[in-house]
Amino acid sequence: MIEFFDRLARPLLYALDPEDAHRLAIRMLQLAPLPSARPDDRRLATRVFGLNFPNPIGIAAGFDKHAEIPDALIRSGFGFVEVGTVTPLPQSGNPRPRLFRLDTDHGVINRLGFNSEGADAVLRRLAARARAGGIVGINVGANKDAVDRVADYVRGIEKFAPVASYVTVNISSPNTPGLRDLQQATALDDLLARVIEVRERVARHAGPIPVLLKIAPDLALSDLDDVVGIARARRVDGMIVGNTTVTRPAGLRDRQSSEAGGLSGRPLLPLADRMLAETYVRVEGVFPLVGAGGIDSGASALGKIRAGASLIQIYSGLVFRGLGLVGEIKAALLAGLERDGSQNIADYVGTDAAAVTAEAWPS
Ligand SMILES: Cc1cc2nc3c(=O)[nH]c(=O)nc-3n(C[C@H](O)[C@H](O)[C@H](O)COP(=O)(O)O)c2cc1C
Repeated sequence: MIEFFDRLARPLLYALDPEDAHRLAIRMLQLAPLPSARPDDRRLATRVFGLNFPNPIGIAAGFDKHAEIPDALIRSGFGFVEVGTVTPLPQSGNPRPRLFRLDTDHGVINRLGFNSEGADAVLRRLAARARAGGIVGINVGANKDAVDRVADYVRGIEKFAPVASYVTVNISSPNTPGLRDLQQATALDDLLARVIEVRERVARHAGPIPVLLKIAPDLALSDLDDVVGIARARRVDGMIVGNTTVTRPAGLRDRQSSEAGGLSGRPLLPLADRMLAETYVRVEGVFPLVGAGGIDSGASALGKIRAGASLIQIYSGLVFRGLGLVGEIKAALLAGLERDGSQNIADYVGTDAAAVTAEAWPS
């Protein structure tokens, strides 16, 4: 059925402007939700930051920014869904065109700039499905013209803790000027102090809620040292590595590759894997990592787990491979387990991290 949907929908979606295509894909999944995917093999199940995931494959933030289709996505086989980024107040983001598909390179460039329907609208949708089950995290951000950006994150956590499985503090979008400055040591320490303080406060009525930090793949390693040190000291529950890159790897061929914005998809894979492995060796098992960036096959998914990811997330790969990619990754992970005589996908986490950090820096 998913294959049928992919085959029917993709030629149509490809003929449209990428942002219109994305809207249409959301509408299609809303109006004609797919039948449930088969229950997952038990060997794909994994427990990470206190939550039980049926499989380690999630959909990354940015696909369902406004929580319109989390349940359709879970039904189609994802182990978890990350909604958002959501800003406290609605905002329209940057002018269009702001989303570009690099067909030759299998990449995407976006400079959406946190277009968000705002926290109230998203909260209503999440509250309405709160009993539906499934792991739905929320990715929170700051409004572009917020006077106190940290207060925006605090508000996001307060608001969404009762209806979300976890919260991601996104300080790594390249499309809100100055946002990535929150990754600098003093600013990050202040942010995380206030974030963790509100997490403790809301836990008293909403129960414990894991807080993750999503970082950019463009950090210098000396800055990564600081970020990991502060995240450890402030006791975040995990990190997502990472967001889109503002760099342009050598070898891009698509003529749209010089568009401004964050690059994702296949060309991001080497840098994203490297930053994940660099983070893994610095974290020393104190908290788990979510790996995102460039996964578009079973092999790249397993590579991400071996580089240090306890969970993985995909977005751009879906644009080129369709929803069938999720089943393909599951089959590849299970084939790997059979081949190696392993019992659980968790056995692979970080096995290649040290080797990846010893390679030449990806160009
Ligand atoms: C169109 C688009 C919009 C995105 N929007 C967000 C966002 O709102 N918040 C966020 O944290 N990441 C966002 N991302 C980044 C993804 O969550 C992910 O980190 C990145 O794309 C790397 O994964 P991929 O190569 O599988 O796409 C967006 C990515 C794309 C392609």
